[in-house]
Amino acid sequence: MSTELEIVRTVADLRARVAAWHAQGETVAMVPTMGAIHEGHMSLVQQANRLAGRVVASIFVNPLQFGPNEDFAAYPRGKARDAALLAQAGAALLFTPNANEMYPEGFATKVHVAGVTGGLCSATRPDHFDGVATVVAKLLLQCTPDIAIFGEKDYQQLLVIKRLVRDLNVPVEIVGGPIVREPDGLALSSRNAYLSAEERETAPLLHATIQQASHELAAGLSAEQALGSARAALEAAGFRVDYLEARDPETLAPLSGPVASARILVAAFLGKTRLIDNVPVPSLA
Ligand code: PAJ
Repeated sequence: MSTELEIVRTVADLRARVAAWHAQGETVAMVPTMGAIHEGHMSLVQQANRLAGRVVASIFVNPLQFGPNEDFAAYPRGKARDAALLAQAGAALLFTPNANEMYPEGFATKVHVAGVTGGLCSATRPDHFDGVATVVAKLLLQCTPDIAIFGEKDYQQLLVIKRLVRDLNVPVEIVGGPIVREPDGLALSSRNAYLSAEERETAPLLHATIQQASHELAAGLSAEQALGSARAALEAAGFRVDYLEARDPETLAPLSGPVASARILVAAFLGKTRLIDNVPVPSLA
């Protein structure tokens, strides 16, 4: 599906378009992104189209969620290509604010979600989810969509946003979208572009390894054993493991005692590139 895509750059224009749709009785779904659009993002826009009458996508490379030594400057930017892909997926409106529109002089507010931000990505990226929560709170208040869709690829982020919306009574339904993968299992990510040819060959092992650990956990192996051999396999293949854990799929609490289900979450470096992935563990009962 391809639609005529209108691009707005200010909150005032965004609000005017969405208010007009709401006045016509249309439902609106939002898909926030940082650009470098790929089929993972496009699948969220397609899902949004199935759930609502109009889809608003946003592109904003949010400086607040990058650490000082991370890839903010290098993050791939290409607006014309991104806009064409979002239109192809069925977005009706693209919001592309500049940094001054989002964080004008004097901006002084930070949104912090506790609990689900414990460990995993927060361990090595301590301010990351404050940056995500702050920008997502702003985007949702600017756009006022009925539904907003976020990928399960960033599973901890999805739970942070669900918590944020519940806690602040933001009147929007947060929906998760399934992870889109390359045929060899590698989860699509804008950062895959950083991989060398050799690293790209190794990269699918990340998914294969956590999938194997998931089967082993479901078959009754202890988390220590299953994750221990998964970590060893990744390290042997040249990954530097940042974290590899099984957590409660709803709260992300570390597993303890008998549990019904789990999510395996991993972050690992291949060279300079940090890849993340996660898979469900169907039933531990
Ligand atoms: P970004 O990395 O551009 O991702 C935008 C959305 O696409 C997120 O909800 C992410 O989970 C989803 N996504 C990325 N890769 C995916 C894949 N392979 N399959 C399915 N969905 C995928 O995540 C962010 O931007 C930012 O943190 C943001 C939420 C926009 C706040 O700045």
